[in-house]
Amino acid sequence: MDIRTCEINLNHWYVVAQSTEITTKPLEVQLWYHSILLYRDSQGKIHGLENRCPHRQVKLSEGQVVENSLECAYHGWQFNQEGICTFIPYLSEKQALPKCKIDSYTVQEGNGFIWIFLGDKQRLQSGTVQLMSIPEWEQLNYIGTVAVIDCQAHFSFLIENLMDMYHGHLHNDYQAWTEAKLKELITTENEVKGLYEAKSYYKIDKIWSISQLFFPRFRVLHPESLMVSYCYPHWRSTLGEDFTIYCLFCPISRTHTKAYLIHFTSLNAFHRLHKLPQWFRQFIKDNLFGTAQTMLDGLVKQDIMMIEQEQKAYEQQLNKPTYEINPTIAAVQKMIKKQLESR
Ligand code: FES
Ligand SMILES: [Fe+2]
Repeated sequence: MDIRTCEINLNHWYVVAQSTEITTKPLEVQLWYHSILLYRDSQGKIHGLENRCPHRQVKLSEGQVVENSLECAYHGWQFNQEGICTFIPYLSEKQALPKCKIDSYTVQEGNGFIWIFLGDKQRLQSGTVQLMSIPEWEQLNYIGTVAVIDCQAHFSFLIENLMDMYHGHLHNDYQAWTEAKLKELITTENEVKGLYEAKSYYKIDKIWSISQLFFPRFRVLHPESLMVSYCYPHWRSTLGEDFTIYCLFCPISRTHTKAYLIHFTSLNAFHRLHKLPQWFRQFIKDNLFGTAQTMLDGLVKQDIMMIEQEQKAYEQQLNKPTYEINPTIAAVQKMIKKQLESR
């Protein structure tokens, strides 16, 4: 099995959009060769339908929501939330509605994102498939920033990038982390975990520490543990106590991967802050949202450049061997293949 053409295991929840993107106007999103349309009904509930009008196969996302049903832009046929055709404006009295139905998908809104499950629904009902937990999204002590990764490459290139912390070299100008050394590699049923020792430039323990994000002269290089974990199909990482980062995957095809990177800066060290009223802490959390945007976008841009070059080189079949010395890469590739066998 060639790792660069591996499919994904659909028996997991995948992220397809941010909550704020979904309104009562239909939106097209994509997940592994599926075009899906999402919309919010008048109660604010999210629905996901196959993005295809069964009449002439055009995209239903060109249409609009009419009284919680979806109306196709072309001839105005309407489909309810289960995807059943319920109305044709020019149906004569002698004609019956065609028995056509499009797929409706299991959708969930949580932690600021829209999650979709396209796998075996029986597995879902058995309760063994869980949404990835992101407690920092709600907790008042964490300041979040979201960056979107959209790269023309197989998802394996992205997860390998995220698991191989020796690539701090690429980000030297952003001073994200440095001098990583892999200390331990642990593989369990659904997870590959790499424990590195590294050095961090940031220490978020004084109220002015946030300024380190903007002013390099306040940064002090110090040792920190760096943990990266591939909790298939997503990724989580911590740098010391101060930073937690998630990468939520949305593989679109064998050569196109979208993902959402969420960076959290911890305010846990500020005990005085914790005594302030809840509303004020929420106000701080909301207003500092996006503080790390410039840095995160910069890191993403550098990573995408490398990942897309890897994909291109693979496609051109240079037939030249590649050499790898970080064992996390082999472990990640094994996990991707194992997940496919367990479908
Ligand atoms: S193509 Fe959708 S109503 Fe005709
Ligand atoms: Fe990176």
